[in-house]
Amino acid sequence: MKAVASAPGKVILTGEHFVVYGEPALAMAINLYAKVSVSERLDDRVYISSNLGVSGFFEDNRFSPEIGGNKSRKILEPIKISAEAVLKSLGEKRGLNIEVTSTIPVAAGLGSSSASAVSTVAAVGRLFGAKLTKESVINLSTEAERYVHVNPSGIDQSISTYGGVISYKKNEEIVHLKIKSAIPVVIGNSGVVRNTGKLIDKVHVRMESLPDVMELLIKAAGKLTTRAIDALKIGNIVQLGLLMDVSQGFLTALGVSSEAIDKLIYAAKRGGALGAKITGAGGGGCIVALTHLDERKKVAQSISAAGGIPIISENIESGVRSWIMR
Ligand code: PMV
Repeated sequence: MKAVASAPGKVILTGEHFVVYGEPALAMAINLYAKVSVSERLDDRVYISSNLGVSGFFEDNRFSPEIGGNKSRKILEPIKISAEAVLKSLGEKRGLNIEVTSTIPVAAGLGSSSASAVSTVAAVGRLFGAKLTKESVINLSTEAERYVHVNPSGIDQSISTYGGVISYKKNEEIVHLKIKSAIPVVIGNSGVVRNTGKLIDKVHVRMESLPDVMELLIKAAGKLTTRAIDALKIGNIVQLGLLMDVSQGFLTALGVSSEAIDKLIYAAKRGGALGAKITGAGGGGCIVALTHLDERKKVAQSISAAGGIPIISENIESGVRSWIMR
């Protein structure tokens, strides 16, 4: 018997980084997925393979790489941590075969590590017949996210679990927004790999060096997300685009934009985007551009001409799903 789970990647429409400082952020699930299949083994090993071209097994805390050498451990460890978090919560210790297949670009701000962790938790839970609530899926995948990012706000696991569009504020209940219209976006991947934890640290240094100014910026960013929620509720995507442009200004003030990112943002705007900004931690990774439904191709071409890799997407409703395959 095999259990399978699939969870979506995400873009952040407003509020990344500021969410770490207690302000709300707006995140949206997109049609890229991490899929995880899990079955039981007869021994105690946790064997993991991923379509990133890495595989190996863990036996207690020892790792033996199969493909990808020792650097594969860093990629596979969060999956093991997620699986073991579920087993531990069930009072079990079992050997597992885990296969991860993801279409979400890695280290690009599209939530690939969270989607893999969330899928692993859901698949292992399903295999052992545990009825995990959304909240417990988020909690059980948090340890893996800590391993990857050190101090994550929790927004990535939350959107991957819930799907749709959520308003997320640390230590508050997640609000799943009812969105009637499409939110058409074009993502532009700069191809520059970056590390979320390091960017969170960089922002922290800037916050510390200008505390009185930054305090106002944090408040303004919170207000901006509230306005973005209002705009979405009435389907005013022109207003949402404007707010995304302002949000990019705030992120630039935090020091997380870059030449490669700015180039893609200007290209998206030239192609007719209503608004464009970093999605995720910045420093490279991806931008997200909001467009009218029939203008995505034009924006994608413009991003491509500027050297980015475009991905056409929109909001999707479903979050993590799991099932049994016999
Ligand atoms: O890991 P990323 O690039 O998707 O960034 C997540 C958003 C941050 O606010 C930068 C970090 C966090 O944990 O909220």
